[in-house]
Amino acid sequence: MIKIEKVSKRYGRKKSLNKVTLHVKQGEIVGLLGPNGAGKSTLLSILATITKPSSGEITIGGHRLKKKKSAIRELIGYVPQDIALWEELTVKENMRLFSKMTKQPITDDELKTLCKAVQLEGKWKEKVHSLSGGMKRKLNIAVALIHRPAVMLMDEPTVGIDLQSKMEIARYIKQLAREGKTVIYITHDMNEILGLCDRFAVLKEGELQFVGTMDEARDMTRQLNDEQVIYQLLHPTVQRDH
Ligand SMILES: Nc1ncnc2c1ncn2[C@@H]1O[C@H](COP(=O)(O)OP(=O)(O)OP(=O)(O)O)[C@@H](O)[C@H]1O
Ligand SMILES: [Mg+2]
Repeated sequence: MIKIEKVSKRYGRKKSLNKVTLHVKQGEIVGLLGPNGAGKSTLLSILATITKPSSGEITIGGHRLKKKKSAIRELIGYVPQDIALWEELTVKENMRLFSKMTKQPITDDELKTLCKAVQLEGKWKEKVHSLSGGMKRKLNIAVALIHRPAVMLMDEPTVGIDLQSKMEIARYIKQLAREGKTVIYITHDMNEILGLCDRFAVLKEGELQFVGTMDEARDMTRQLNDEQVIYQLLHPTVQRDH
């Protein structure tokens, strides 16, 4: 569903991504992790057609990113790391505005169902500036999913969201994946890496260090404790496996 081939990104002299290659199948949830500044958000915003890669090839759903930007925009739902909402408008008004950006007709009932899926029911008529930080995060997720995107690009979507809502949102994302949606999910959260993702990719200083399942990571690092496995993959002294 997503093919990233040797993608690099430079900001001036600085290389933020260096020949990143990653393939994601339809229905898969792939976690993307790595230290602050590793290039995770840069990669996701390239996939979301917001940032231009310096080199490399990307196809999403068979469309080449260079040629078919608008087709790709219909396919993807992007949850940015920085919350992007209209503060002066209500939850309902925000959702309606986002729903107008898509060609598909979306009813208020559908918007309310989505609101419920992110544990935001009861806030329908509240202005965004009066919501808590976690509630804004929930709405940030909901507005990205309004057009029922086939590919979900989620950049630390649940930071600051309460535990119970996090679990419900994880369940919802898993259900969407079972229905065939493809997900790339940036997280620093151990539970999400272990409980949500089918595979994960570790990015460090712009380079992919590891792509695989947790079982493969356990085999490679020969650690029994999952936290140690992840620690080893993130640790500067670990050898690259390819
Ligand atoms: N617009 C920009 N101009 C210049 N440098 C940038 C820009 N955006 C990102 N960078 C640099 O690219 C590198 C990767 O940044 P990025 O935001 O992708 O990291 P990240 O892995 O998402 O980190 P975090 O976990 O902190 O969110 C950093 O060194 C950052 O300073
Ligand atoms: Mg980031």
